This record gives sequence, structure tokens and C-alpha cells, in this order.
Amino acid sequence: MAISSRADLEAFWMPFTANRQFKANPRLLSRAEGMHYWTPDGRKVLDGVAGLWCVNAGHGRKEITDAVSRQLAEMEYAPPFQMGHPPGFEVASRLVKVTPRDLDHVFFANSGSEAVDSALKIAIAYHRVRGDAARQRLIGREKGYHGVGFGGISVGGMVNNRKFFGAMLPGVDHLRHTLDLEHNAFSRGVPEWGAHLADDLERLVALHDASTIAAVIVEPVSGSAGVVLPPKGYLQRLRSICDKYGILLIFDEVITGFGRLGAPFGAQYFDVVPDMITAAKGLTNGAIPMGAVFVRKHIYDAFMHGPEGVIELFHGYTYSAHPAACAAALATQDIYQREGLLSRAAELSKRWEDAVHSLRGCPNVIDIRNIGLVAGIELQPRAGAPGARAYEAFTKAFEQGILIRISGDVIAMSPPLIITPAQIDELVGKLGEVLRTVA
Ligand SMILES: Cc1ncc(COP(=O)(O)O)c(C=O)c1O
Repeated sequence: MAISSRADLEAFWMPFTANRQFKANPRLLSRAEGMHYWTPDGRKVLDGVAGLWCVNAGHGRKEITDAVSRQLAEMEYAPPFQMGHPPGFEVASRLVKVTPRDLDHVFFANSGSEAVDSALKIAIAYHRVRGDAARQRLIGREKGYHGVGFGGISVGGMVNNRKFFGAMLPGVDHLRHTLDLEHNAFSRGVPEWGAHLADDLERLVALHDASTIAAVIVEPVSGSAGVVLPPKGYLQRLRSICDKYGILLIFDEVITGFGRLGAPFGAQYFDVVPDMITAAKGLTNGAIPMGAVFVRKHIYDAFMHGPEGVIELFHGYTYSAHPAACAAALATQDIYQREGLLSRAAELSKRWEDAVHSLRGCPNVIDIRNIGLVAGIELQPRAGAPGARAYEAFTKAFEQGILIRISGDVIAMSPPLIITPAQIDELVGKLGEVLRTVA
């Protein structure tokens, strides 16, 4: 359908969007290939965010489209409860080859939010099936983003995602976040200062007692709250405190999974093995919705007791391991392997770092953060109008032919992993031009 008037936009209640502002001045995308989108009027836009941190292999991958259409023609749907289909088992076996160590079982969902809520439920149920039912408390972190289910917003730490929705899950507490411009502004890669912030978990153990705590969930690198990096040694410290007290550690790798940092998962990049990893986005290159929870062997094994005819986990989705999503995931993994994309960010990260740090000195830039193929550029908020300056940069960037993301006054970039050095220069060069025009 060609959109010709505002009335055509009315019915769609857009997610995480200022609907009236958008509908008064819409930004539409209608085609995509490689590193680019095109607008309906034919303007080419360089994708600086891999769609929404998901199109890691770039747009329009015919191999994925063909695999999905073949699967839909062969069998569009099969029930996942008490029944199975070959692509579900194939994709599971394939995926656990790229996960760290013994994270060798996978539970499928359809989004990052569902993956997170599944992981939280698995954590609580895990302790219960082992006879430790008092461990029900979940620990998240300030500024964390874990999707929009009630579990995810409860452990999440972004105020606007929480304050409208009443009571959260009971028994949740939060670690302090790790963003500190006073100590760490303009760090290149992970900041040196702040590993001790992980000791917040000791404080929460002292307050609640470890015997009540089921799991801690953190993003190895927070994306949605504006690219917050773990200080050097922080994740290791969190791991050892969890080990000390028998608390499960969940890494939410919806953004960092599938090559974003230069390794398949952040867990490998940081050399810290969590008990569970949640993933989505890059799992299917964004082509078909799919989420996953990878669990360590001891977690899966803990459920495999009792009579064999009894369902071990009363949880799942109509579309868990949907055949079309499995086909998309398999084709995506083929591309990642063949093109070396799960490690490509490591090759480009120095070039990326130098490019984004060249924006230091642009008006109102108060911090630049980078890791792998991720960057956050924080702007000084305008007095009394938080977010307005970054929003102006975002709209001007789109007019100039680059797609970026904003969260508050932080500009985030996470391009497809196929970006070339020349395209890095183009993306960052155009952003610099834009920033110089934003007062
Ligand atoms: C770390 C993290 N967890 C969970 C989610 C939620 O994923 P979805 O939007 O697919 O539900 C996101 C989305 O950006 C995310 O970044």
C-alpha cells in the first residue's frame, strides 16, 4: 500500500515511538539490501544500527529468504508440544556448537523478551527441582534492559519501562549500574575503573541472604540504556560471587550474541561462562522472530529426574522452534560461518574505535564509549529537555542518509558486521557533520 495521507498511519499503534510526532512527520523505509535501506521515495540510507541490533549479516540475504520460503512450502507449522520436527533439532545442535563450554541445551522462544522471561522461570524452577525452593529472588541491574515482559521489566532498570506498569514481580532487587563519566569518560574499550561495583551483589546477599536468591541477570554490555560497558574485571567478579553463593548467573546477550563484540557471544569475549544465555535478534539475522535460552548441562540435567512420562518444565510457546524461524536460523548460521562474521567485529574494532573517538570535540559530546562494533556517543542534555538534542541529531542524521539509534541523549551505533572500513568512515563522518549542526 502506498501511504498517501496521515490517515493511512492512524491504525498502527507504534511501539516505543512518539506516535503523534512520528505520524506528523513519518520516517519510512521500504527496501533493504546489504548495508543500506531505501525510503519509499528512493533515498538511500546507510544502516548504522543493523536494523535494531539484529541484521548482523546485512540486509536482503537471499539464502535466508530462500530457506524460509522452502520451509514454508514444505511445512509451515508443526506443534512443538509433545511433537517435533527435524529443523528444530538441527538448529539446536548447530547453535550449541558456537555457545561457550557446556551451554549445550537450548529452549526456544520468539523474542528477546520471551527468552528473558523463560530464563528467569527456568532459574527459579531449577532451584525448586533441586529441593531449594526458597531461592526465588531475582537480581537485575539499574539501566538494564531485558525486554518488556513483566519478568523483564522487573529485573530491568530503565525507569520509563517500569513506572507505568504498576507492581513488578515481588522479590526483585538491583545492582548499581556501571556508568560513571567522572572516572571513565572517553575510555577506549572497557573502562579500567569500577570492577568493585560487582561487590554490590555481596551487599544484596548480606541484605536478603543467598538462600533466597535464584539468579542474577545482566547484559554483558547494555545496549538499550545507551551502551554501558562492564568495567575491566567486573563480570569475572560477578561470576565468582555467584559461584560463592550458588546463585545462577544469566547473561542477556540479545544484543551481544552472534558476533557483535567479535566473538560468538559476550561470554567468550569476556571469558566468563554464565549459567544461561538469552539470545534473539542476530539469531535469525532479524528475518524471522526467534529467541533462545542456552543453558548449561547441569541446569538441563537437574530437570531430567522423576518419572519419564511427566513433563519436566511446564513452559513453552505455540511458536517455540517455529519451522520458518529454524530455517532462517540455520541459513543465518551458514552465512556467519562462511563469511567469518562471528569474529569480524574483532578485526574492525580498532578502526571503529578510532573513527568514533574522532567525534570527541564535536559540540556537546560528553562521552564516547566503544567495544566490538558498538559505540555510544553521549550528548549533554539540553536544560529542561532531556533527549531533545539527541532526537534532533537522529532526525538530521536520517535526512543526511544514515540510520542511528538514540536512547535519551545517547546516540548508539551497531552496524551490520559486513560494514567496510570505508563505510565506517562514511557513517562516522556524516554523524560528525550532523553533530556540528545541532546546537
Ligand atoms: C538485552 C536485551 N534483552 C532483551 C531484549 C528484548 O528483545 P525483544 O525486543 O526481541 O523482545 C532486548 C531488545 O533490544 C535487549 O537488548
